[in-house]
Amino acid sequence: MNYRHAFHAGNHADVLKHAALAVLLNHMKAKEKAVFALDTHAGRGSYDLTSTEAMRSGESRHGVARVIDDPARPAALEPYIDALRAANAGGGFEVYPGSPVIIAAALRAQDRLTACELNPRESSALAEALYPYVRARAETRDGYAAVKALLPPPERRGLVLIDPPFEKPDEFEAMGQAIIQGWKRFPTGVFLAWYPLKDGAAAAAFHARIAGAGIGDVTTYELFVRSPEGPAGMAGSGLLSINASYPLDAAMGSILPYLTVRLAQGAGAAWRMERLTAE
Ligand SMILES: C[S@@+](CC[C@H](N)C(=O)[O-])C[C@H]1O[C@@H](n2cnc3c(N)ncnc32)[C@H](O)[C@@H]1O
Repeated sequence: MNYRHAFHAGNHADVLKHAALAVLLNHMKAKEKAVFALDTHAGRGSYDLTSTEAMRSGESRHGVARVIDDPARPAALEPYIDALRAANAGGGFEVYPGSPVIIAAALRAQDRLTACELNPRESSALAEALYPYVRARAETRDGYAAVKALLPPPERRGLVLIDPPFEKPDEFEAMGQAIIQGWKRFPTGVFLAWYPLKDGAAAAAFHARIAGAGIGDVTTYELFVRSPEGPAGMAGSGLLSINASYPLDAAMGSILPYLTVRLAQGAGAAWRMERLTAE
């Protein structure tokens, strides 16, 4: 486990993922009924954009930094921008909130979050980042096993974020299996899974597997910051959602075209939104 999100915090993939996450959280809070959130691969929760890691990679400069102060950004990005501002309450913009902190900050008195992180060092930082949020819990455990163990939640209303590091060659298979297993246990749950756009065939096989599993309301939202035909490596990233097309389609319909222009890193930047199965 070498992956450390500190090098990538605030990059184009985080902007896409956290913008959609913030839209979903806002939508779920529109109803009083309690929400259980499960963040299976949580990371350390909070990232210092002035750290050696962040400065060395410079990834946030081509990501969140291009968006945060842009007056022309679409209104659908506001929940995400609000989350960024809340993490920098003292002013300035040096702290990037990871997914568990974005979720924890959105919890109401009736909601709760379990955030899983397998790397002990990252998990200990996560526990510290979540300490102020009494309804949020950090656990040092395998997030895929947590999908099996913690679903369905007693609340019967919930959001599952699956955001693995894709260090292992079989990550698409592991994630696909966890999604199918999670959905079978909790078919009314909202699921949001992130994946890299590196190998088109692997992403297509993942889509086909989920679409073929009998799951309804599956949609993908993809952002290419450069052409996939270019040099090897990540040309962008995608999100696969279940039971979330109603709030996400409209929001991503304005967020994706905007990010495609704003976060482009070369020729061939593009976006794609695809309904894999009907509601
Ligand atoms: C992409 S990062 C998570 C970023 C975070 N979701 C965010 O958006 O701020 C993936 C994290 O998963 C952790 N990880 C790897 N395998 C795991 C597993 N099986 N269960 C839980 N965490 C795992 C890694 O240590 C890493 O911190």
